[in-house]
Amino acid sequence: MGESGNRRILITGALGQIGMELLDALQTKFGAENVIASDIRESEDVDNSGFRYEKLDVLDSERMESIIRDNNINEVYHLAALLSATGEKNPQLCWTINMDGLMNVLELARKYKFRIFAPSSIAVFGADVGKIAKQDSPLNPATMYGITKVAGELMADYYHSAHGVDIRGLRYPGLISWKVMPGGGTTDYAVEIFYKAVASENYSCFVNRQTRLPMMYMDDAIKATLQLMDAPSESLSVRGGYNLPSLNFTAEELYHKIREKIPGFECEFVPDHRQEYADSWPDETDGTLAKQEWGFNLEYDLDSMCDVMIQSLSK
Ligand code: NAD
Ligand code: SER
Repeated sequence: MGESGNRRILITGALGQIGMELLDALQTKFGAENVIASDIRESEDVDNSGFRYEKLDVLDSERMESIIRDNNINEVYHLAALLSATGEKNPQLCWTINMDGLMNVLELARKYKFRIFAPSSIAVFGADVGKIAKQDSPLNPATMYGITKVAGELMADYYHSAHGVDIRGLRYPGLISWKVMPGGGTTDYAVEIFYKAVASENYSCFVNRQTRLPMMYMDDAIKATLQLMDAPSESLSVRGGYNLPSLNFTAEELYHKIREKIPGFECEFVPDHRQEYADSWPDETDGTLAKQEWGFNLEYDLDSMCDVMIQSLSK
């Protein structure tokens, strides 16, 4: 299938923070009938009136194969994973879900020749990277989640070069969105703070006020995903994960920006174990290659992101 051919899409981990937004975008672009959402939750527990849904544990390779084969799937967005904070609570499970799940998708792609989008993360970087992470900065992660993302990038390179699998990936920064709560990451504070501010409640932020991490509004992340999957294969020099340009603000700067818009909002800073993971990540990512190779630019800055978050959550 070419980049612009008829897409028949499967999303794994579709009920999560990114999945529900990507599902909307893919339905709009390719037609709801061409997109199947899957996740580990039972169908009866999911309100899937607006989309096709299949229960799929990504560790169940046989079921994954039957969904892919029976629906003639030619593109998989593989989002099922455990994120950094949840992963650190159970590192073995994090390795199993993130790596065996990916391996199942890759092996089936070899057999059925479908294309794959598999996200990486800023968590591939470690404390040795400095303030700005470049595309080719060293990858020495401090979390099991980061280790799985580095290994996932290497697997993507390997399956592309050894078996011709068309797999693409992005190193998403912390994603800020309002439709679905984030699922156990270190950057979740940058979403939770909005929920509290809009509910006129105080927020106790679990990283310190100086914490500065690469961030992005969800619409930009979805745009990047679609743009990457539309890019001609021969224009891509990276398979495992492109750095993206990111917003860069401290937790305190975010608090002050929200307070400009919601006067009286109070936030205290009480770091917990997640501070350590945050401290191991860069302040910002250099997304020059994504701009050069497939033309990606950010649309949202801190101010416009805060406006849309507050307006949307206030509805
Ligand atoms: P999320 O936690 O919100 O969603 C993950 C989904 O995977 C959940 O709905 C969960 O039920 C499902 N899942 C877990 N185990 C499963 C299994 N065994 N089989 C099937 N489904 C299973 O995560 P997200 O934020 O939507 O992240 C999606 C992807 O993007 C992940 O690979 C994550 O590492 C990556 N990413 C996310 C961010 C971010 O800020 N959200 C940043 C960088 C990378
Ligand atoms: N937002 C993710 C996390 O904090 C980064 O991959 O785990």
